[in-house]
Amino acid sequence: MDFLGNWKRTQYCGDLRAADIGSEVILMGWALRRRDHGGLIFIDLRDREGIAQIVFDPEVNPSGHAVAESVRSEFVLAVRGTVIPRPGGTVNPNMKTGEVEIQVLECKLLNRSKPLPFMLDEHSEINENIRLKYRYLDLRRPQLQYNLILRSKVAQLTRSYLTDNGFIELETPFLTKSTPEGARDFLVPSRINQGQFYALPQSPQIFKQILMISGFDKYFQVVRCFRDEDLRADRQPEFTQIDCEMSFIDQEDIITVMEGLIARIFTEAKGVTVQLPVERLTYAEAIRRFGVDNPDLRFGMELCDLTDIVKASGFKVFADVASKGGIIKGINAKGCAKFSRKDIDELTEFVKIYGAKGLAYVKIENGEWHSPIAKFFTAEDIATMNGSFGAEEGDLLFFVADKPKVVNDSLGRLRNHLANLLKLTRKDDYRFVWITEFPLLEWDEDDKRWSAVHHPFTAPMDEDLDFVESDPGRCRAKAYDLVLNGSEIGGGSIRIHQEHVQSLMFKLLGMSVEDARSKFGFLLDALEFGTPPHGGIAFGMDRLIMLLTGSDSIRDVIAFPKTQKGTCMMSEAPSPVDTKQLRELGIRLAEKQA
Ligand code: AMO
Ligand code: AMP
Repeated sequence: MDFLGNWKRTQYCGDLRAADIGSEVILMGWALRRRDHGGLIFIDLRDREGIAQIVFDPEVNPSGHAVAESVRSEFVLAVRGTVIPRPGGTVNPNMKTGEVEIQVLECKLLNRSKPLPFMLDEHSEINENIRLKYRYLDLRRPQLQYNLILRSKVAQLTRSYLTDNGFIELETPFLTKSTPEGARDFLVPSRINQGQFYALPQSPQIFKQILMISGFDKYFQVVRCFRDEDLRADRQPEFTQIDCEMSFIDQEDIITVMEGLIARIFTEAKGVTVQLPVERLTYAEAIRRFGVDNPDLRFGMELCDLTDIVKASGFKVFADVASKGGIIKGINAKGCAKFSRKDIDELTEFVKIYGAKGLAYVKIENGEWHSPIAKFFTAEDIATMNGSFGAEEGDLLFFVADKPKVVNDSLGRLRNHLANLLKLTRKDDYRFVWITEFPLLEWDEDDKRWSAVHHPFTAPMDEDLDFVESDPGRCRAKAYDLVLNGSEIGGGSIRIHQEHVQSLMFKLLGMSVEDARSKFGFLLDALEFGTPPHGGIAFGMDRLIMLLTGSDSIRDVIAFPKTQKGTCMMSEAPSPVDTKQLRELGIRLAEKQA
């Protein structure tokens, strides 16, 4: 087999254009397809930038033609040839290189390939676990190449924008102490300190705050974070954040700089103009209108509160809920009166996932309410509700009555679900919204204690400071999330910068003084040495790229992702280790439960 010799590639396959006609080129890449036209052999040669059509003519180059006959999928070739126009009628307007082809003068077979476990253009029908096992092949697909190249571009744009804006790129440790962001830690045993463990950081949160205390003023890092939590389509156990922190600033400063970053990324990586300033909603308003704190604003179908109208009605389910302090809200599925009983049953099952006990419905047909519950309402109530819903002929109204959390959760999710069913959204329609004024704390029923909604280092809003101890539940936080098309792509806050406030927060979270000291003593100490007011944000880079590329799964924008079960199909991690390795670490495994 002959290798490169003195050949140097002149350009990428995908870069050939009509302007190159007449020039001699050397291309290298993979054979995607071979077509034998009895005499002429055509090979689609693929590299990172695209595909070029290579023609082997036995009359022009007999030895090259012989090589071409042996070529199979994914063989690696180098060809020297002349760029010629494709004959009339064979121009392919769908290909960037579709006006030209290469008349081969010489060809080298650089390597062979075993037959592939799946064809690269059949990926959609292939089980994802097989694709992940052969990730190196899957990554050859143009879509995944595009996703990862765009990802690289976003990282570069981020670095240049933040550097231009005075941010300093600093690294923080991976082998560290627990940094709570609400998930479980991944632990790493220490060999030299047996019985002790490092935690992989859930985020650089405490370290970046300490860098502010050290006077770096503006920090950023494109950094891996590790969280042992239940995985979903938009979650990975290790993922990347664009992590930022700034000193001597308020929430508005952070929002302004970060809007600039997002706008720059969207313009330069995607050619999309982001309208600034980005729209804002308070948390309370988001929940009231959309039921969720990550609303998708690409479509309407807002929730309406009907509690006052139905509380005195004859429908006992609604009246009972209202009398116990619950609420009744509804959503208008526009034009869906044609939904069958079965469709509605399925939607009822859907809302039950979020705790709803039922899903009452009304079809608007022939100008009237058609529903098992219609009889409970006066004509006047019906008219008022029609007004709230904006109900028209052919609409389908849904109602849930329950505690506010259940009503908002279930109708908020139903709203997204209906938008999916009705195909109300486009992936290339980008709708951003900042959610502000989050609650500081939420009551954890299981543990019977308060927990931080963002994280324990988040400052309360000035207006609510006086109630932090007396009425923690009503306090709002100086916290903000950036939501894009229903997905939380970033979140941050202004931090507590005074030791006594931070200690109070730990106390509210149910931590004893000793507990707080043993977990966060180093932060509490540092806070006492002249801490500047500071705050920051972190963007989920994988989620951002997922939305930018229109991918359905976060796995499509990560080179080597894990499955839903946290395993790497290619390397087969996690895996058992030698007893010797365990002994060195002073670890003995518990007997496996039968
Ligand atoms: P937060 O926990 O909100 O904030 O995380 C910031 C962003 O990271 C993304 N994200 C994830 N992406 C993929 N897989 C996951 N498992 C995952 N978890 C989170 C989300 C989220 O908005 N230290 C704070 C930031 C700060 O206060 O400055 C933090 O980590 O897009
Ligand atoms: P029932 O009185 O149980 O026959 O319910 C009548 C209708 O009200 C059915 O369509 C139920 O799905 C619906 N329903 C029952 N409980 C609730 C609830 N908490 N919220 C909304 N709809 C409900």
